Amino acid sequence: VLQLTLAVIKPDAVAHPLILETLHQKILENNFIVVRKKDLWWRRKDSESFYAEHSGRFFYQRLVEFMSRQGPMIIIYIPCLLYSGPMRAYILAREDAVAHWRELMGPTKVYRARYTAPNSVRALYGLTDTRNTTHGSDSTESAKREIAFFFPEFSVQQWLDKE
Ligand code: CMP
Repeated sequence: VLQLTLAVIKPDAVAHPLILETLHQKILENNFIVVRKKDLWWRRKDSESFYAEHSGRFFYQRLVEFMSRQGPMIIIYIPCLLYSGPMRAYILAREDAVAHWRELMGPTKVYRARYTAPNSVRALYGLTDTRNTTHGSDSTESAKREIAFFFPEFSVQQWLDKE
């Protein structure tokens, strides 16, 4: 049976065209169906609300800033000055999609990823524990919630019923 997950390519990976393309190919090679794909750039409030469960953690501020733009759009986009940028979100379908995407990403912490899963995306392309290339839902319930956050017009239930 097909399962849906939400996968995000974070600003650090989107900023590097070769890494972005490599990650897109990896998705296709691993037999994921790309159900929806969207490039977007969060405002601070989106970032704060998506990561609300981490508020209070020592990395919360840097995470929120990394994942969003702070000023209005008229600020010229200079990634190396803003340390942030657009991201790409996917709804992916596959058998065991949630677990499979998480396995491809590897552990959250890049240092750990390099030791325990050297071929994972985060081990290969991650920069730091915050700039760790990708995000993936950690359960089918989170997938449902996160898909609704990124793609409010999409109905998970309707899609699964059709399959
Ligand atoms: P993500 O899977 O999007 O979920 C929470 C994010 O917090 C995580 O990926 C990282 O980008 C970020 N983060 C930053 N520092 C840490 C840390 N020390 N431990 C866990 N997550 C961190």
